[in-house]
Amino acid sequence: ESDPRLAHIKESIRTIPGFPKAGILFRDVTTLLLDHKAFKDTTDIFVERYKDMKIDVVVGIEARGFIFGPPIALAIGAKFVPQRKPKKLPGPVVGEEYELEYGTDRIEMHVGAVQPGERCLIVDDLIATGGTLAAGIRLLERVGAEVVECACLIELSDLKGREKLKGKPLFILVDFE
Ligand code: PRP
Ligand code: ADE
Repeated sequence: ESDPRLAHIKESIRTIPGFPKAGILFRDVTTLLLDHKAFKDTTDIFVERYKDMKIDVVVGIEARGFIFGPPIALAIGAKFVPQRKPKKLPGPVVGEEYELEYGTDRIEMHVGAVQPGERCLIVDDLIATGGTLAAGIRLLERVGAEVVECACLIELSDLKGREKLKGKPLFILVDFE
């Protein structure tokens, strides 16, 4: 929390109460993307952390992991692999279900996109309950890959999603309680 860039990054994230339903404080990263310094600093902080960690693959989770993952992958010399909502990917897929507040959802990844033993970084904008990232980890471990770390801009720490990650390290830039 001592990095002087973090306060400006946090201020650039808009909060919209009541979206998508009553009681939710929605943390909207689209306003960060409008602010060149905030977006550049965000990417730089992740790149500084991961450039020498021998990451083979940056895995981005739909949809907002597709915004922050690719600039990191390009800068650290890794490939980029999307994990998508069901029925979006055209080739053969592997999938994992995860729990939502009501019901279940699923993410999928192309077979062969990640090879056994490859070192992966999973990127998303935000961790809430942790169900999405936990499913992303399971999917990568099922194909024999190594999940080195998960990286999110935002942690909603009161929801304790971090505890669902089975000890995998989680690196975040800002905490909204
Ligand atoms: C949001 C967010 C994370 C996920 C976190 O995506 O971008 O991917 O929720 O929640 P969790 O930690 O409780 O699993 P959302 O499911 O809204 O999908 P979208 O980005 O496709 O709109
Ligand atoms: N995904 C889950 N909870 C969220 C929140 N409060 N803001 C933005 N995205 C979310």
